[in-house]
Amino acid sequence: MQSPNVKPATGRLGILTPGMGAVSTTFMAGVLSAKKGLTKPIGSLTEMGYIRLGKRTEKRQSLIREFLPFARLEDIVFGGWDIYSDNAFEAASKAKVLERDHLEPIKEELSKIKPMSAVFDPAFVKNISGPNIKKGKNKFDLAEQLRQDIRDFKKNNNCERIVMVWCGSTEAHLLPGAEHQTIEAFEAALKANSPNIAPSMMYTYAAIMEGVPYANGAPNLSVELPCLMKLAEDRGVPIAGSDFKTGQTLMKTIVAPGLKARLLGISGWYSTNILGNRDGEVLQDPDSFKSKEVSKLGVLETVLEPEKYPDLYGDLHHLVKINYYRPRGDNKEGWDNIDIFGWMGYPMQIKINFLCRDSILAAPIVLDLAQFLDLASRSGFKGVQEWLSFYLKSPLTKPGLKPEHDLQIQKLKLENTLRYLGREELINHLGLTYYGYDEGDASKIGN
Ligand SMILES: NC(=O)c1ccc[n+]([C@@H]2O[C@H](COP(=O)([O-])OP(=O)(O)OC[C@H]3O[C@@H](n4cnc5c(N)ncnc54)[C@H](O)[C@@H]3O)[C@@H](O)[C@H]2O)c1
Repeated sequence: MQSPNVKPATGRLGILTPGMGAVSTTFMAGVLSAKKGLTKPIGSLTEMGYIRLGKRTEKRQSLIREFLPFARLEDIVFGGWDIYSDNAFEAASKAKVLERDHLEPIKEELSKIKPMSAVFDPAFVKNISGPNIKKGKNKFDLAEQLRQDIRDFKKNNNCERIVMVWCGSTEAHLLPGAEHQTIEAFEAALKANSPNIAPSMMYTYAAIMEGVPYANGAPNLSVELPCLMKLAEDRGVPIAGSDFKTGQTLMKTIVAPGLKARLLGISGWYSTNILGNRDGEVLQDPDSFKSKEVSKLGVLETVLEPEKYPDLYGDLHHLVKINYYRPRGDNKEGWDNIDIFGWMGYPMQIKINFLCRDSILAAPIVLDLAQFLDLASRSGFKGVQEWLSFYLKSPLTKPGLKPEHDLQIQKLKLENTLRYLGREELINHLGLTYYGYDEGDASKIGN
């Protein structure tokens, strides 16, 4: 269906990923496989999700992809950058997420996806090194080369639109400094080769300068910088971040809001993980782990609001550990021990043992973020897309706004944004009209 608010999704959509490792190649493989009808795009809202429209009595449901215009899988082309020269088939084989039986039927297509040379700085990612790296006069020159890559990719692949989703390794933790405040300071720092400009920031800058919507799938700082958020606003480019919400944090944002809704107290939440993929190896570096830890720890604090509920959450001990353990590969195992207390302070415990597959959980998020950012761009949305918080561990908001971590509220926000774009009434779930009550102003909103 075409919405009057949204431009149609004509022509080809290029999805570019800095980083062509486990997540990126699993994403590409899943789309190629779905295109051939071999597997279903499970976990993707834009492919399989429905949305309710109008009052419950109207019994109207639509597939999201029929309600608003999205790129068809047939019209999506992939590209990326990596420090290794492996094509997507080789990289997917080495990542060992997918089995031969799933890779062989799409070998030809995956083999054609060759990584462009990367902008890389070992100061930000310590445990890996590779040969496929750009050389340049300075960081500004390197960012210009990335811009040229985007233009070339678009032309050579006959794309109408491009989106970029960061699937590169987690970089070292950095706090925003003076060079990140304004675009003038940022560009001067690029030219001066400032050590405070990470490669991910250069990809983000290149994307926004080329009018390409950008999502940050890792916890390190890039699109969150004040200068880049402002640049995105000024250039009319939608952005989203940060850190794909998968595995343990996904569970946390499902369980914690539920416990809080029933005002059950929490005295401790101990989370530990083992994983053996390259991401896990990079996270052994304390600087990269710091980025991850900040992103993972923030979730509970924001959901539980200890300042408002000191008796329930004021003394919460929250610990997060990630251990690199090679035999597990991409199949992460996470353990959560949650010490809770109820009526009259009596203690109870919850144990969650999640044997998940990291990249299997992350791949549909890459597809949805790319599709929704492209939709946002065609709808004239610009700057921070808070309605995409649903997919992210550290949701990016306008400065001063508290992020929303509760998965169900995030879903409502996303769905209402889609209804808004499709000129359908918003739904607030009040529901009193069905029982004959006057809802006053609220009745203007569906329920
Ligand atoms: N899988 C998940 O569930 C999940 C969840 C949240 C966040 N993430 C994040 O997603 C990212 C990708 O995860 P993964 O499992 O695919 O990791 P991976 O190590 O398999 O792949 C990352 C790739 O990025 C490349 N790379 C590093 N720096 C680069 C640069 N500057 N330019 C281009 N390429 C670069 C590496 O060579 C590697 O091939 C990581 O940052 C990870 O923390 C993953």
